[in-house]
Amino acid sequence: MDMEGYVKRLLGEALITNEGEKWERIRKLANHTFHSESLKSMVPEMSSSVSMMLKNWKDYDGKEIDVFKEFGLLTTEVISRTAFGSSYLEGKDIFEMVAKLTALTVKNVNKIRFPGISMVFKSEDEVEAEKLERRVKYSVMELVKKRESLPNVELGDYGSDYLGQLVKIRHEFDVNKRITPEQMIDEIKVIYGAGHLTTTSLLAWCILLLATHEDWQEKAREKVKETFGFHAPNSDGIARLRTMNLIINECLRLYPPALTLTRKASKKVKLGNLILPQDTNIFIPIASLHHNSEIWGEDADLFKLERFARGIAKATKNNVAAFLPFGMGPRTCVGLNFTTNEAKIALSIILQRFKFVISSNYAHQPAQIFILTPKNGVKVILKAL
Ligand code: HEM
Repeated sequence: MDMEGYVKRLLGEALITNEGEKWERIRKLANHTFHSESLKSMVPEMSSSVSMMLKNWKDYDGKEIDVFKEFGLLTTEVISRTAFGSSYLEGKDIFEMVAKLTALTVKNVNKIRFPGISMVFKSEDEVEAEKLERRVKYSVMELVKKRESLPNVELGDYGSDYLGQLVKIRHEFDVNKRITPEQMIDEIKVIYGAGHLTTTSLLAWCILLLATHEDWQEKAREKVKETFGFHAPNSDGIARLRTMNLIINECLRLYPPALTLTRKASKKVKLGNLILPQDTNIFIPIASLHHNSEIWGEDADLFKLERFARGIAKATKNNVAAFLPFGMGPRTCVGLNFTTNEAKIALSIILQRFKFVISSNYAHQPAQIFILTPKNGVKVILKAL
């Protein structure tokens, strides 16, 4: 991927941007950390982060709350605890800096830079972005150092979470196999960035849809009660939450957090009726595919859970590539299962404890701020159960 200035500062050289062997190695490691067995062990941690958030929600009984803001804090806490073994407070600075860097990237991504001149005269934003990049590096290295001072590191045990796995390959016996500190920092930054805003948006859009479709909110609550009663969610139950799957799919279809995908043809290729020369950049408009009435029907813009009841192939009239919230192929989102687990756990516990309706102060304004975001938040009125 060709990257310039701000984007490079934000994404660096990591899973999202690397190719070939460099990508493959870290992808394997990330697959391992964010899949099946490892995810099972994260369920209690995710549940207790949600419960912590809901303790504060009690003060909002009968009142308005902006769930988008709340989920921002929740997803920060969850990724900090599960992937980096640290608390929200420890991860908070890194998140805030990555968020500021994202905002500067969004603001400046289409600005033309003149080689030479831009090396000498830096804009205020460029100076700020450089500072942020240095501070993120410093804070990440502090997390790493803490891990390197754990009691069992001599036995090669740096912890089983993502941070531990990365630190482990930084200390590989074979020097050639070690990752550089720079790559490790970029890998950590990418997971912080990718794992946070996307899940925040998904959860906020789900609450919006359930607040405006109270019949489905009630059905979902019934299923949650049938599955868990009033107990915390467990991984077997999570796998059986069928109605919740439909809700999450329909939410990702209507409001896909990632709006576009890009690919580059590595060689001349035939795509349908088109011949694409080597190196052609391909832009895949996820959101417009998700709203295409030829695929989804005349009611494509409506919230209609039944469309997914018989699977994605049926819902898309066998055009499965028309539903791409997490991309497709070997580079599909590595956090897919992590994020859907987190969403199911959060929504289940919220439904167990609260009813919610949309507030009259809610103003619908989906906006592309790097990802698809509710620009004015999602304000609902809570009722404790
Ligand atoms: C609702 C939540 C999320 C959405 C909608 C989403 C969406 C996506 C999409 C569309 C891609 C590109 C896939 C492709 O090119 O085919 C992607 C890649 C990626 N995502 Fe996510 N993502 C989400 C959550 C997460 C989380 C929670 C994490 C980390 C724990 C994560 C980490 C990544 C990484 C590392 C990649 C790059 C994978 C690679 O290039 O091998 N994502 N995501």
